Amino acid sequence: MQKRLTKANFLEDDMDWGLKNRLARIIKPNDRRGVMLAVDHGYFLGPTERLEEPRKTITPLLPHADSLMLTRGVLRTSVDANFPIPVVLRVSGGTSIIGKDLSNEKITTSVKDAIRLNVSALAMSIFVGAPYEHESLVSLGNLVNEGEEYGIPILAVTAVGKELEKRDARYLGLACRIASEFGAHLVKTYYCENFEKVVKSCPVPVIIAGGPKLATELDALKLTYDAIQSGASGVDMGRNIWQSDHPVAMIKAVKAIVHQNVTVKEAHEIFKKLKGEAKTAKAKTAKVKTAKVKAVTSA
Ligand code: R5P
Repeated sequence: MQKRLTKANFLEDDMDWGLKNRLARIIKPNDRRGVMLAVDHGYFLGPTERLEEPRKTITPLLPHADSLMLTRGVLRTSVDANFPIPVVLRVSGGTSIIGKDLSNEKITTSVKDAIRLNVSALAMSIFVGAPYEHESLVSLGNLVNEGEEYGIPILAVTAVGKELEKRDARYLGLACRIASEFGAHLVKTYYCENFEKVVKSCPVPVIIAGGPKLATELDALKLTYDAIQSGASGVDMGRNIWQSDHPVAMIKAVKAIVHQNVTVKEAHEIFKKLKGEAKTAKAKTAKVKTAKVKAVTSA
């Protein structure tokens, strides 16, 4: 029988080769951290602001993410199959933001299709404390059983529905721990006060979602920094990257915190520098265009 994955033996021991290899694409073995770009929001939110045309949002960010989290629909229609990005496939769903109960999710994508898509991990939400808690936890157990048969790790997303605004260490710690007890190989949750308690009581790596766009990029960088300092293994971040006016600068700044251990101030400097460069490049292109138009009209 395969050894259980824990933070201590993560990526190191005699874990099944395929499982280990897939995990290493998501959480980099050199520093045990990862930057996952989340673009799965449409599965229950529809055309989320600045993700209305997924390909346009995703393409410039691809070279800067360690992995990409999304549904099979957006993967097939909006991501170039020739680009070698590890995919974390969301396989749960079945509800919408205007429906009755967000917690009533089921597994909607088969493991067979996930294998066809050459994914590195499967992701599903669990709804601890919500009406469909039981169903989502049993689904997690079943998905782990199936994933392990094929060496595919499972990311459990500790979802906080409309009715569950509790984002404290007690609730999130409970949800993360339960996810790991069911065999999840990675857990995604939200940052909160006393986050180190959440990480400490969860034996598998924990990554954080960014949540709704914060007031400034600096706020999102601080959130990332605090989470990493408290023991998070990385981020699975969406809106705070691609709802920024400068998404590439933002993902690079987040990545510097995750992989290069830079401070919030240093990350913000990186962001501002890249933002400035992007503005200059845009202004130059606009100038060249105007000059070309002038040349044509005066010819
Ligand atoms: C939510 O359930 C989705 O799975 C998102 O992937 C997750 O919330 C991360 O995205 P964001 O950083 O925008 O919260």
